[in-house]
Formats: sequence, C-alpha cells, structure tokens
Amino acid sequence: MKNESLCSVEEFNEPGKKVFEIEGLEILLIHADGEYFAVDNICPHAKTRLISGRVEDGTLTCSNHGACFDLKNGSIRLDRVDEDLLEQIDVDNLPFGPLKTYPLHIENGMIVVQL
Ligand code: FES
Repeated sequence: MKNESLCSVEEFNEPGKKVFEIEGLEILLIHADGEYFAVDNICPHAKTRLISGRVEDGTLTCSNHGACFDLKNGSIRLDRVDEDLLEQIDVDNLPFGPLKTYPLHIENGMIVVQL
C-alpha cells in the first residue's frame, strides 16, 4: 500500500466533498459528522460520479438511481436504497458490488489515504 496526502485538515475543515485525482483514480474525500471518509468517486452501479451524491447518517446515496453505500466499508445499504432501484434489481444477486473505500488517517495535520 502507498500513502498519499490529499490536503490539510485546515483546508477542509467544513463538512463537504472534494475529489482528488491520483494515479488514474478519482478519490472522493468526504467530511461529515466530524469524520473523514475516502471512497471511489465512481458508482459501482452505472459509473456515475458520486460527487453529486447525498451524504447522510454515515451513508452516501448516488444521485443517479439511488444506490446507498455505507461510508465506512462501502457496503450496499439495502435498507436505504431508493425504492425505484430496489424494484429493478434482484437483491439476492446484486448486479453491482460494494463501493471501494480507502483507509485514511491524519498525519501532521494532513489527510492521508492508503491506496
Ligand atoms: S449509477 Fe449510481 S445508482 Fe446507478
């Protein structure tokens, strides 16, 4: 694994989202509820960028079809998936996997992800 500094805590001290492009990856850094999360910016369902998604209660909901992901581990939160999407998919055989997440830590005031 490789460590990459994204930005300083000071630069990103308000809740929100920022995208960083590193080595061909788009990393979405989220600051919510006093925590930072790093996930892929690309939805595993139909590849929409997740920067426009909704962050709420430790989850990220894709703005395209409403897939909802747990920000800590990227798992799909079926209890919060949009009803229209639920009707279209076989929940026992999901057509897409979890959202990729990246471990991160704060080091000398910098937000560092492990790729
Ligand atoms: S592209 Fe994200 S839910 Fe379909």
